[in-house]
Amino acid sequence: MPTAISRLQGKVAIVTGAAQGIGRAIAMRLAAEGAAVAIADVLEDAAERTAAEIRSSGAKAIAVALDVTKFDDAVRAADMVEKELGPIDILVNNAGWDKLEPFVNSSPETWDKIIAINYRGVLNCCRAIAPKMQARSSGKIVSIASDAGRVGSTGEAVYAGCKAGIIGFSKTLARELARNRINVNVVCPGPTKTALLREAMAGREGVLEAMAKGIPFRRLGQPEDLAGAVAFLASSDADYVTGQVLSVSGGLTMAG
Ligand SMILES: NC(=O)c1ccc[n+]([C@@H]2O[C@H](COP(=O)([O-])OP(=O)(O)OC[C@H]3O[C@@H](n4cnc5c(N)ncnc54)[C@H](O)[C@@H]3O)[C@@H](O)[C@H]2O)c1
Repeated sequence: MPTAISRLQGKVAIVTGAAQGIGRAIAMRLAAEGAAVAIADVLEDAAERTAAEIRSSGAKAIAVALDVTKFDDAVRAADMVEKELGPIDILVNNAGWDKLEPFVNSSPETWDKIIAINYRGVLNCCRAIAPKMQARSSGKIVSIASDAGRVGSTGEAVYAGCKAGIIGFSKTLARELARNRINVNVVCPGPTKTALLREAMAGREGVLEAMAKGIPFRRLGQPEDLAGAVAFLASSDADYVTGQVLSVSGGLTMAG
C-alpha cells in the first residue's frame, strides 16, 4: 500500500498553465507526492522558475512551452514530455483565462479568446494525450473547470459556458475511455486568490470581500486548497472514480 506522500511515485504528469496560480500549486503537490512534472505554459520564464523550484526540492520537473489553443503545439509538447520524462500518466488541464464584463457588452473577439483557451485548450490537450494513455490502458485526466460552470456567474457568461462545456465533455470522455482504464474527472474552484482573480476584479475589491462573506468557510480559496483534490483524482486512490465533478470552494456551491 503506497503512503499518501509517495502515491504518485514513478508517475509522469503534465499540468497546463502551471507557471503560476492554481496550476503551480497543483504541480508542486504532484511533485511532492512523487511525480515527475512538466510545467506547460505560455509564460516560458515563469514556467522555468516553477520547474526550477520543484527541482530544488529534489523532484523531477521540466518547463514546456505550450499554447493550449493550438492543437499542433499540444501534440509537440506531449511528445517532448514523453521524450524527456517518459509516458504521461496524468494530464491536468488547468490553463484558463477570463475577462469580466456583462455579456451584452462583450465582443465576438473576446468570446473567441475565452473559448480558445478555456474550452478548446482542454480538447486540444485531451486529443493529443488521451490516445497515448489509451495505447497503455492507463491514465488520469483532471480538468479544472469552475463553479461558474455549475451555477453561473455574473460577468462571466462565455467563460461559464466553457466551464460547463468542460463538465459535459469530461463526462462523455470518461464514458468513452473507461474501457481503457482512464479516469476523467473535473475539479471546480470557487473564487481563489490568484492573478486571474486579482485582474478580473481590479477596482472591485469590495466585491471580493462580500464574496468571502458569502462562503460558508468565510474566506476566498488559496491555490493550495485545490492541489489535494487534484492529487487524489490523479492517484490510484481514485481508480474507481470517473466522470465526477468536485467543487473545492469552501462550500460556496453545493451543486447536486
Ligand atoms: N482563481 C479563481 O478564482 C478561479 C476560479 C474558478 C476557476 N479557476 C480556474 O482555475 C484555473 C487556473 O486559474 P488561476 O486562477 O490559477 O489563473 P492564473 O492566471 O493565475 O494562471 C493561469 C495560467 O494559465 C496560463 N495560460 C493562459 N493562457 C494559456 C494558454 N493559451 N496556453 C497555456 N497556458 C496558458 C497562464 O499563463 C497562467 O500561468 C483556470 O482554468 C481558471 O479558469 C480559477
